[in-house]
Amino acid sequence: MFDLIVKHVNLPDGRTDVDVAVQGQRIVAVGPRLPGAAGEVIDGQGQLLSPPFVDAHFHLDSALTLGQPRRNASGTLLEGIALWGELKPTLRREDIAERARAYCRMAIANGLFAIRSHVDVCDPELRAVDALLEVRAEMAPYIDLQLVAFPQDGYLRDPRAAALLNEALDRGIDVVGGIPHFERTAEEGRAATAALMALAARRGLRVDMHCDETDDPHSRQVETLAREALRHGMQGRVTGSHLTSMHSMDNNYVDKLIPLMAEAGLQVVANPLINITLQGRYDSYPKRRGMTRAPELLAGGVNVAFGQDCVMDPWYALGSGDMLDVAHMGLHVAQMTSVAGQIECFAAVTTRAAAVLGLPDYGLYPGCFADFVLLQCSDPFEALRLRPTRLLGVRRGAVVLRCPPRQPTLLLPGLG
Ligand code: FE2
Repeated sequence: MFDLIVKHVNLPDGRTDVDVAVQGQRIVAVGPRLPGAAGEVIDGQGQLLSPPFVDAHFHLDSALTLGQPRRNASGTLLEGIALWGELKPTLRREDIAERARAYCRMAIANGLFAIRSHVDVCDPELRAVDALLEVRAEMAPYIDLQLVAFPQDGYLRDPRAAALLNEALDRGIDVVGGIPHFERTAEEGRAATAALMALAARRGLRVDMHCDETDDPHSRQVETLAREALRHGMQGRVTGSHLTSMHSMDNNYVDKLIPLMAEAGLQVVANPLINITLQGRYDSYPKRRGMTRAPELLAGGVNVAFGQDCVMDPWYALGSGDMLDVAHMGLHVAQMTSVAGQIECFAAVTTRAAAVLGLPDYGLYPGCFADFVLLQCSDPFEALRLRPTRLLGVRRGAVVLRCPPRQPTLLLPGLG
């Protein structure tokens, strides 16, 4: 007797018309026509059952602040950073927590059950740190929040940052962050990267740095990040986020760089919605797309995930917590229109993003957590094309989301 069976579903890896059986918090069987009764039986009707969406790069502390204290008039990255600098001192811990809760509800409604969120630690009171630690614990039954200590104003550039970042880690933040290209010089960027990697190695923590988020092809902090990952034996535990300068780098240099990144087990997160809007802003025409070289990195053996980065904040006025919007944009920006490319775009917001976070027991196999979402479509290609309704969401074996299928009624008199 199972607790739950979802029957007749297709899975993103190509398995078709299978049943998925759940006992307690785990998947216990996957296969065609599973025998046995269950407490609840759901007919999937040949639709796509996916492991939950995962956002490998987000900012919960700034999400949903759009318009406070004013809109980003130019729409640029630098005005966004300046605007955040104005807004940050005025934020109250309770408001940050309440917005984060609202965003988590939005995410869960979209089948997004895991988020890696950077948290700005350049605040003497660490209000965002405390707010998001509170929300992480409160929302844990429903969504995995992995928090990154992010020194937005520069680990060396802001003289308070090192102490505040350490304090944030002491309070329970999960991952070491950084922003080496924002330090005063390239040399100080390399020094910041080395110091933060040593800190993470000492504490046994993962690393995720905003790295080379610029069109400047000479911004090469990723090289140091990869070298330090090798030096500390942290293969698979270090992520370079954005890496947009790789879009503008010389091909000869990239031909050497990608093998180094693969050797170092560096993980990469591109943020298509943000990269396509914030990069190339100093160009006239031709205008660069700016997103890192996702297909080439994948071909070189580097894991690439897509993140949402921002929703309704000083950097980006749009966004809805739907990772299929992110994958859809990534597919277009990176021209990943091949059959294999489209499958990779779906993986970039599911399995590949889960690998960045290091989520245990993620997937649709016996023994994995019973976490999944049923979509109103039949395969990953339709999911990317339609960004369809999330019909059902199950988290740790419990149904946490139900939504009726979208069935528009057309009223077209005279057309029969
Ligand atoms: Fe970011």
